Amino acid sequence: TRSPVTVTVTGAAGQIGYALLFRLASGQLVGPDTPIKLKLLEIPQAVKAAEGTAMELTDCAFPLLHSIDVTDDTREAFDGTNIGLLVGARPRAKGMERGDLLEANGGIFKPQGEAINANAAEDVRVLVVGNPANTNALIAQSHAPDVPAERFTAMTRLDHNRALAQLAAKLGVGVDEIRRLAIWGNHSATQYPDLFHTEVGGKIAADLVERDWMRDEFIPTVAKRGAAIIDARGASSAASAANAAIDHVYTWVNGTAEGDWTSAGVVSDGSYGVPEGLISSFPVTARNGRYEIVRGLDIDEFSRERIDASVQELVEERDTVRGLGLA
Ligand code: NAI
Repeated sequence: TRSPVTVTVTGAAGQIGYALLFRLASGQLVGPDTPIKLKLLEIPQAVKAAEGTAMELTDCAFPLLHSIDVTDDTREAFDGTNIGLLVGARPRAKGMERGDLLEANGGIFKPQGEAINANAAEDVRVLVVGNPANTNALIAQSHAPDVPAERFTAMTRLDHNRALAQLAAKLGVGVDEIRRLAIWGNHSATQYPDLFHTEVGGKIAADLVERDWMRDEFIPTVAKRGAAIIDARGASSAASAANAAIDHVYTWVNGTAEGDWTSAGVVSDGSYGVPEGLISSFPVTARNGRYEIVRGLDIDEFSRERIDASVQELVEERDTVRGLGLA
């Protein structure tokens, strides 16, 4: 057995938290041999519910689960954290403008970034799940100047997995026969799932499907899947989001397969015309515990237009939080 990893989960009493924590405690986050110390952060009103979940975790008698702390103290929650899963966020209330939403989330992700900067472990890695995920990640990263910016990421792996599943169904292949799919931009309805580099049985996926299907069905189905789940289930995606969060961290730590890549919201270095410093989704490989943007892909006109539109939305979100002094 290796030395334990300390994992902080915010919003632990929420629906994603409930779908996530048992899988973490059973050893699925980084691998089967690593003991885990869980730190659960909640707002004061939800601490009791998080403690209830902690009781259930205890009752599973997971051999790898070393400890569980429940707290409403942000600094304490990130003390010694190796992996931070930032799930808790402020949902959009009726009539709330985007600026108000970003400001409310700034009140959450700024102190969390500061606490990570002050208290987390040297090798801390952060995944922001709570929406608007890309810009919340940017806010947290902006307040953690001593942590390498690349350690802050936003989740687009659920979008990636949704796109894999849609394409596999369309082509009648297994998801494991698809390589090099990519989600670009913001985790929002403007995101762009790109099939122009995607390989299926040695062929490019964009050449295997009708252009109309790609434009009018595939792209909107992936981008609006979250709303379709709410419509069907009466609640937003939870188990699939938790699953994607685990995939994101597992890949980050253990790497992508040779010749393949995945998608993640990472800090832009200016690649593909995405302004430096934005946290945007890119095709990424993972090696030696680092996510790296895949270089040198040709971007056709169809893709360019869509990537630019989604990145423009991220620029606007960044400008709003800058105006509020949050980034
Ligand atoms: P939920 O409402 O069930 O749970 C959120 C929890 O966060 C609540 O228990 C709340 O008390 C807690 N919380 C709020 N502020 C907090 C703070 N400052 N510190 C700690 N905890 C805090 O929501 P759910 O379904 O678990 O979703 C969580 C977030 O994940 C939402 O923002 C949702 O939009 C987002 N999401 C992102 C996806 C992605 O692909 N990036 C996919 C699905 C959901």
